[in-house]
Amino acid sequence: MSDLATVKDVSKTYRLGTVTVTALAGVSLAVERGEFLAVAGPSGSGKTTLLNLLGCLDRPTSGEIVIDGELASAMSPSRRAELRAGKLGFVFQTFNLLPVLTAWENVEYPLLLGRRRADVADRVRAALADVGLGDRARHRPSELSGGQQQRVAIARALVTDPALVLADEPTANLDSRTGQEIVDLMRRLNRERHTTFVFSTHDPRIMKAADRVVEISDGRLL
Ligand SMILES: Nc1ncnc2c1ncn2[C@@H]1O[C@H](COP(=O)(O)OP(=O)(O)OP(=O)(O)O)[C@@H](O)[C@H]1O
Ligand SMILES: [Mg+2]
Repeated sequence: MSDLATVKDVSKTYRLGTVTVTALAGVSLAVERGEFLAVAGPSGSGKTTLLNLLGCLDRPTSGEIVIDGELASAMSPSRRAELRAGKLGFVFQTFNLLPVLTAWENVEYPLLLGRRRADVADRVRAALADVGLGDRARHRPSELSGGQQQRVAIARALVTDPALVLADEPTANLDSRTGQEIVDLMRRLNRERHTTFVFSTHDPRIMKAADRVVEISDGRLL
């Protein structure tokens, strides 16, 4: 099977005044279709930087990122935005739901950004049901528990049927039991829908759910 995403000899440096910070130094990684892949490493090791590059939210300083056969690292910002809307989904550590919108409206949101679809309501209903929140559609984020908010965020990430979901420390703001439930939910959706997941974590118990764990330290894969 062909790889869904590849990172080839990627480096990322940030310039802050006269100081150059190397966040990634020559990282290469292939993500297989259907994989449930964990990126593990201490704080500051480059996990978020790597996920942001895979998610086409940012461009590498050097090296190549290929997503589903397309050379993302060479794209203009607007083509990268199209690629994100069409093929990628995101889950964040702090959930990042829009506070004034209900769970339904948060999940609906990415469907309204892309090309018009006829089946918006059916998709939103199915996505909320898939994460076990069919009965919370009218709740705002402040009326949901942390675990429920992250479920809404997972429904929002999956409602467009992306090929790849990037989840940056999705369990870090949850107690360990709820964190385990969230990773189990992502794992089930990965198996049922064949959606590829790349997620980062510090937590060895969460890593156990992964097909494969890649370790990063000081911007390099071990
Ligand atoms: N926008 C930026 N400008 C300057 N330096 C940055 C920027 N973003 C990240 N860095 C630096 O790059 C390195 C990697 O950061 P990154 O956020 O990828 O680490 P991380 O593994 O996600 O850490 P954490 O577990 O704390 O989230 C760090 O040394 C960080 O200080
Ligand atoms: Mg991070």
